[in-house]
Amino acid sequence: MSMIIAESLTKQFSRESRPAVDAVSFTVEPGELIVLLGPSGCGKTTLLKMINRLYEPTGGTLLIDGVDARSLPVTQLRRRIGYAIQQTGLFPHLRVEQNIAVVPQLLGWARPRIEARTNELLDLVGLPCDFRGRYPHQLSGGQQQRVGLARALAADPAIMLMDEPFGALDAITRSRLQDELLGIQRKLHKTILFVTHDIEEALRLADRIIVMNDGRIAQFDTPLAILTCPSNRFVEQLTGANDVLRRLSLLTVAAALGHGRRSAAAAGAVADLPPLRPQDDLRFALTQLLGAGESSLPVIDDGREVGQLTLADLRAILPQTIAAVGASQDGCNVAGAAPQT
Ligand SMILES: Nc1ncnc2c1ncn2[C@@H]1O[C@H](COP(=O)(O)OP(=O)(O)OP(=O)(O)O)[C@@H](O)[C@H]1O
Ligand SMILES: [Mg+2]
Repeated sequence: MSMIIAESLTKQFSRESRPAVDAVSFTVEPGELIVLLGPSGCGKTTLLKMINRLYEPTGGTLLIDGVDARSLPVTQLRRRIGYAIQQTGLFPHLRVEQNIAVVPQLLGWARPRIEARTNELLDLVGLPCDFRGRYPHQLSGGQQQRVGLARALAADPAIMLMDEPFGALDAITRSRLQDELLGIQRKLHKTILFVTHDIEEALRLADRIIVMNDGRIAQFDTPLAILTCPSNRFVEQLTGANDVLRRLSLLTVAAALGHGRRSAAAAGAVADLPPLRPQDDLRFALTQLLGAGESSLPVIDDGREVGQLTLADLRAILPQTIAAVGASQDGCNVAGAAPQT
């Protein structure tokens, strides 16, 4: 795990142009999954590439675990940073196993260690072992992305930079890979910077989101805060904040339960109520709450109760929504009772 601190980090490609990244400052805590979100051309890729020094900043500083990135030899820096990109960047003439082994080989790992690591990674990203001999063109887009992810993880870097890694995939494959990334992150606790311009992907994955606009940070906050307290019109429009039911569908039960994906287990037996899962969206949760005629429902993860989601939680997040649903049921697909208080 590594900590990343940017102070007034700037990249100006030419004297005539405006900075692509304009004096941005932020701190990423060790083990956080940060999503960089913003429209095309706002500077996401440029920011990412300054972190592994594919681009040298023209201003400001970047500290990695307290050390100025400029003071580190580039090779040493990149060893600690895995990089996965949208077009996967796989070498077409190398087999899957050779692609995964590129960095370990550069680092001079012994053959058996590379073998073992390759098997471990194929398993981690959900590819069968007999794929190791295939060439990239013999894989589907989603499978190529998995190999790209395995390759980025190969040398066990503390930091992962991921630039729209799932951008080219269909919705189902994409959502499966998002789940797997979250699963992997729960095991490995990397410090991850993940670029996307898809708000739903951002809300689903992020511990915190950096919203960028024109090279600047418009807001750096939790998914919940981005949706419920957008700092300006730009963020509001980006998240469609005036459409309350859409906002509910974008937030997870875990986000509404409070900090962290897993709160401490609550005491008490699980009644025979329809349980919610942390990854369920809040629109579904509202439907379940209203359908059951309950003011709270248990949230179950891995067979354990991790908290209770209450109507009050939802009301606190989106006051208008509950009021609207209470007044008339036709704003959403809610069957059953009106909310109890
Ligand atoms: N190598 C370069 N030389 C000159 N200008 C560049 C270079 N790379 C990026 N830019 C400019 O910097 C700005 C930010 O580009 P960047 O690639 O960081 O955007 P982005 O947010 O990643 O966009 P997208 O979502 O389309 O990938 C753009 O105006 C772009 O034209
Ligand atoms: Mg980009």
